[in-house]
This record gives sequence, C-alpha cells and structure tokens, in this order.
Amino acid sequence: MSVLVVTGTGTEIGKTVSTAAVAAAALARGRSVAVLKPAQTGVAEGEPGDAAEVARLAGAVTLLELARYPEPLAPATAARRAGRPPVRPHEVAEAAEKLAAEHDLVLVEGAGGLLVRFDETGATLADAARLLGAPVLVVAHAGLGTLNATTLTTEALRVRGLECPGVVIGSWPAAADLASRCNVADLPDSSGVPLLGAIPQGAPALPPADFRTQAPGWLAPRLDGSWDAVRLAA
Ligand SMILES: Nc1ncnc2c1ncn2[C@@H]1O[C@H](COP(=O)(O)OP(=O)(O)OP(=O)(O)O)[C@@H](O)[C@H]1O
Ligand SMILES: [Mg+2]
Repeated sequence: MSVLVVTGTGTEIGKTVSTAAVAAAALARGRSVAVLKPAQTGVAEGEPGDAAEVARLAGAVTLLELARYPEPLAPATAARRAGRPPVRPHEVAEAAEKLAAEHDLVLVEGAGGLLVRFDETGATLADAARLLGAPVLVVAHAGLGTLNATTLTTEALRVRGLECPGVVIGSWPAAADLASRCNVADLPDSSGVPLLGAIPQGAPALPPADFRTQAPGWLAPRLDGSWDAVRLAA
C-alpha cells in the first residue's frame, strides 16, 4: 500500500488528524511519508493548511498542495469563484505517483466527503483513486448517525470498484456513549469493512512528541499500528 487515499464521511470529521496518525505510525516504522492535499480550501495564502497540520503532529513528512482556494467551499465551487483552474483527477494521480516513487507511503487527503466535486465536470476524489488504483480509507464519527454516513461512503466506493481497507474513527470520546460503544461492532457489520483505528478525543492537542509516540496504539496493524478494536468495546 504505497498510496493511501483518505476520505471521510463529511467535512471536519478528523481526516487531517487521522492522516497525521497514519503518517506518525509509518514514520515510527522507519518508512518515509509524503502527504498530498490536492485542493486546500478555506485557508489564505501563507497560512498553514491541512498538510502543515499533518507535519506539525507527525513530524518529518514531505508536503505537497496542488491548489489553494481561500473560500471554505467545495473545491469546484471555490475554484470557480476564485477564477482559478480546478484540480483535475489526473493531476492528483500524477502528483501522487511522483511522490510514491520517492517515498514508502503517500497519503492523499481529500476535501470534505468522497463525492465532493473537484471540477465542473463532476470529478471527485474517487476518480483520482481509480486512476491510482489506490485504496481509500474512510474517516468517520464515533456516535449516532455514523452507520448511515459510513455505509453510504463504503457503498459508493464499492460501486466504483475502489478498495476500502477500512474505517478510522476520527475522535473517540473519553467517555463513550451507548451509540459509540455499539458502533464498534455495528460499523464493520454495516459498512462491510473493518475498523482500523480510533483516534482518542483530544489527540491533536497533545504535544506532538506524545502524538507521535501514541499514534501506533490508535491504529490497526494494517496501518502500521498495534490497536485492536476489542479494547474499545470493553
Ligand atoms: N481526535 C480528536 N480530538 C479532538 N479534536 C479533534 C480530533 N480529531 C480532529 N479534531 C479537531 O476537529 C477539527 C476537524 O478535524 P480535521 O481537521 O482532522 O478534520 P477534516 O476531516 O480533515 O476536515 P476538512 O474537511 O476541513 O479537511 C479540527 O479542529 C481538529 O483539531
Ligand atoms: Mg482536513
């Protein structure tokens, strides 16, 4: 798995923080990591974007952003309103392949959820993943509502012939409620893919050194970690 595309069930779900955890776990194994954010929206020039946040938390990763649009909108809309060219799936695929030639792992973070449009033709992150033949990791909420949103996303991946290695819970509450605890078993059942990790609530506020040390404990062996879902449900 040299290129891993990271999507979520929506925006602000924890894709960036989960990407940082996956990067940290890979780095801890001695793997080189690059992070590609094809379209960064809602961030002004010169301000740190998602890729910079991954580097802050995870450490020494190569960062690449293909385009930045200041308005916090879907990339296609933000590009159109900015009067700038959109990011095309083939550009994402080419950039990721180039990074993959020089790194052990390339993480590609989408914008919002899977079917958010990148250009006026309706191209999405799924098209880039298909060009790359890359698996797509889904980041999801822990609690009520996540079964539907996660299952819609994994179904959309399956319909498109894309591989989904599993789901990571973007923020696992310190005191998990009933729905969250039930979802540990129900999410894999409903979505048809395994749970591959849970990032504890508060993780991005940890000192980065602690984030890096702890990250492998939040992720399953498939993502270079040592986590086991059984512990969550306990
Ligand atoms: N485990 C967590 N505990 C506490 N806060 C979190 C956690 N994960 C993410 N957050 C916070 O929630 C917000 C959204 O997280 P993040 O930026 O990772 O989401 P995203 O899905 O990448 O969003 P976007 O769609 O904007 O790229 C951020 O302020 C982040 O610091
Ligand atoms: Mg993000």
